Amino acid sequence: MLKEASGRTAAQAVAHIQGLTGLKPYAAVVLGSGVSVLEGLHDAVVMSFKDVFGMAPGVAGHSGTLTVGRLNPTDERCIAVLRGRFHLYEGYDWQDVTLAARTIVEWGVPNLLLTNAAGGLNQNFSVGDLMILTGYRDHLNPKWKELGLIPAVQAPATALDNSLTQLLIATGKRLAAEDKTMVGMQTGVYAGLLGPSYETMAEVEMLRKLKADAVGMSTVPELLTCGDSATMAAAVSVITNVWSKDVAMGGHEEVLEASRGASKRLDKLFRAVLALL
Ligand code: HPA
Repeated sequence: MLKEASGRTAAQAVAHIQGLTGLKPYAAVVLGSGVSVLEGLHDAVVMSFKDVFGMAPGVAGHSGTLTVGRLNPTDERCIAVLRGRFHLYEGYDWQDVTLAARTIVEWGVPNLLLTNAAGGLNQNFSVGDLMILTGYRDHLNPKWKELGLIPAVQAPATALDNSLTQLLIATGKRLAAEDKTMVGMQTGVYAGLLGPSYETMAEVEMLRKLKADAVGMSTVPELLTCGDSATMAAAVSVITNVWSKDVAMGGHEEVLEASRGASKRLDKLFRAVLALL
């Protein structure tokens, strides 16, 4: 059954946030399933998705809050952290699943870091690895082409070909060289599928042939939204399972557990990158 669309516009969401904070962050971060980083922001203002977007996410591991605050007490600038997102597989439509990203764009936030939980297709990956996206495949097959919400020409190809992605990769390499806990830094191509079920082994084989390194059910809508805007977006997948013929797939609980383990490393990576922006 389709969820009822909130009908809220990005401009209304920005007006709500601005009314409460009066601030414009230099970066926003969207956190997917169970990914908990950038806790303890200073002078934090916490808003619920329900209040900002008119809807609350229904998936476990997503708290559905938007926090505006400072990374360090001495920082003059602030960031925004969005915990949770809306998915097409929950029955939300394209307008709903892009509302948060459209709000970031409308708010004039120049940088957006996206995270997601994803299954590893690349056999060199391990559970808990972090994969910085260098490209993505859109298998979400939504209605946006019919609706013409996004110009089909430039956004998909160029969305990740940017300096924010390069900064993530370079910072990940530097941290891995300096800090022995920073293991499992990967780069690769993300395939976004509609879900909600995980893939069959035949689909896994197909995606591998298409040279995808990880598979998930989000992030592509946000990347498409930013591809045609002044907001530069980059994304990191937390690899919560690695596909193989012999290993049974875990459920949502195991996905959450693996995300928790990788969160510490992602926290270090994001704090280092945010300090450089
Ligand atoms: N497939 C799709 N989405 C996922 C997976 C997966 O294997 N793991 C975490 N999210």
